[in-house]
Amino acid sequence: MADLAFFNNKIVPIDEAKISVKTHALHYGTSAFEGIRVNWRGDEKKFYIFRMPEHYQRLLRSCKILKMDLPYSIDKMCQISVELVEKCDYEEDIYIRPIVYKSTEVVGVKLHDLECALAMFVIPFGPYIDINNGIRCGMSSWRKINGDQMPNQAKIAGPYINHAMAKTEAIENGFDEAILLTQKGYVSEGSGENIFIIMDGKIITPPPSDNILVGITRNSVIELARSELGIETIERSIDRSELYVADECFMTGTAAHVAPVIEIDRRKVGDGKIGPMTKKLQQLYFDVEQGRNAKYMHWCTAVTPKK
Ligand SMILES: Cc1ncc(COP(=O)(O)O)c(C=O)c1O
Repeated sequence: MADLAFFNNKIVPIDEAKISVKTHALHYGTSAFEGIRVNWRGDEKKFYIFRMPEHYQRLLRSCKILKMDLPYSIDKMCQISVELVEKCDYEEDIYIRPIVYKSTEVVGVKLHDLECALAMFVIPFGPYIDINNGIRCGMSSWRKINGDQMPNQAKIAGPYINHAMAKTEAIENGFDEAILLTQKGYVSEGSGENIFIIMDGKIITPPPSDNILVGITRNSVIELARSELGIETIERSIDRSELYVADECFMTGTAAHVAPVIEIDRRKVGDGKIGPMTKKLQQLYFDVEQGRNAKYMHWCTAVTPKK
């Protein structure tokens, strides 16, 4: 089966999933999207979709912020996703990208009186960042936009320019990832990841009020740390210099999994090697997202390919 997409309310070959150049979302960033990891288990010849309903719940919340009245339930979107995964030709890790966009073909800056549409496709998706050796981060000169300038509690296309500026600046400066600070100078997040530090055995991460996207991976790691390591994560603002003296640091995201940070602004984190707590959480998370931990199987949707 060739690559497929969900488009105009049906599954079609990907080449038929095309939008007009006049589409509102293309001009004004008026779309909301998700990224859902689908982990391939070669030993079972099965896919495991990780926390799919939670992603669709966040998508519906993003739609609400953009005044999009999407006529699809979480269950229906899960069902369409499973069908796309079942029918795809891949035998490797893949990624589901659902997007809801203002589909009206009109020029005009606004959110109201516009139609919206749902599209979805799957793509192969290997490692996004070097999770095995750890990553080097640099502080972005681009501050994270405030929640009263752009909505942060939603995964909306437009504001990603803020993150794209930061990411490209970081790469061009020789880092692997950017860390954005809030307008007040507290640590917010990476360009596509949440951030955690470990100090004196405590796990600390910025709160939603520091303009983060509240990540599903972040939530999973907090839950795993609580249930499996008996450590309650502290949500509080983090100063830039705390990053320099942290014992360990890692980032979390659907794309990045649990990514150890070994250097920040050219200073080693801890001894510059992946820390023991990070390693433990990374391993726990991997097992869980690949459907290898029975206790967390409710976070996974197993899919057998139907070719
Ligand atoms: C800006 C930003 N922060 C955090 C995350 C992590 O969120 P999640 O773990 O739900 O993928 C993402 C990825 O979607 C992101 O784009």
